[in-house]
Amino acid sequence: MGAGVMGSGIAQVMAIAGHEVACRDLNVQAINVARTAVDSGRFGIRSAVERGKLTAEQAAAALDRITFTTDLETAVDADIIIEAIPEDLALKIHFWRELDSMAPDHTIFASNSSGFSIAALGAAADRPDRMVGWHWASPAPVMKLAEIVRGPLTSSDTVDTVVRLAAAAGKNPVVVNDTDSAWGYVTNRVYFAMIREANRVVSEGIADRGQVDQLMMDCFRWPSGPFGMVTGATSGWSQ
Ligand SMILES: NC(=O)c1ccc[n+]([C@@H]2O[C@H](COP(=O)([O-])OP(=O)(O)OC[C@H]3O[C@@H](n4cnc5c(N)ncnc54)[C@H](O)[C@@H]3O)[C@@H](O)[C@H]2O)c1
Repeated sequence: MGAGVMGSGIAQVMAIAGHEVACRDLNVQAINVARTAVDSGRFGIRSAVERGKLTAEQAAAALDRITFTTDLETAVDADIIIEAIPEDLALKIHFWRELDSMAPDHTIFASNSSGFSIAALGAAADRPDRMVGWHWASPAPVMKLAEIVRGPLTSSDTVDTVVRLAAAAGKNPVVVNDTDSAWGYVTNRVYFAMIREANRVVSEGIADRGQVDQLMMDCFRWPSGPFGMVTGATSGWSQ
């Protein structure tokens, strides 16, 4: 749900892993952008064939498994709903509240929030045991991250199911605990601490952004510096 930078890539990964996927956004334009990203984007299915990661037959079968849709009724009939709508707490709470009244009882609700408390999201729906965080990294088809966030009421069955799904899709699931005291789980708390310090270095006139990026890449073998990471994450690394 939400076929932007993250949702389109997540749909692609799950379809390649063999699942029937409905990839839903609010309007046709967004759906068309998602379809193009999955089909012929930099990290799309054609590029996976060119790089020898998939055969042409596997690619065609994966594309066939994805239904791109604006229709909520079609998308809601699922065993798991992975939400990748914008990082706005009120929007996500409203979204999950609406979905709770429409989705089958057994459906797991997984949020790709970058850091909101799973307890807060879970409170929007009447299924806190089936509410879990499943935080992906961009580009979703490439990055191994599966930061699985266990809320205080998330059941072991839900966590186990999502861990199994993530592992079977080629990710490296790591289960962490929810907290309502800070945004960001593990990855983004540590990442934004680094960004804050990088911004301080620039504002103190010690180095410019390009220099900070170059130094961090050369010193720590990072593929990108802190400022490059922000640009890449918001664009889906498409440039
Ligand atoms: N971009 C990243 O690097 C990254 C990484 C990890 C997690 N996230 C998280 O993933 C989520 C989505 O981020 P993104 O970068 O893909 O955003 P995005 O803006 O590219 O995509 C969000 C999409 O959701 C759609 N949308 C809004 N409301 C909707 C609704 N009710 N139903 C269906 N679709 C709806 C929008 O039209 C848009 O296409 C956010 O919570 C973000 O914090 C982003």
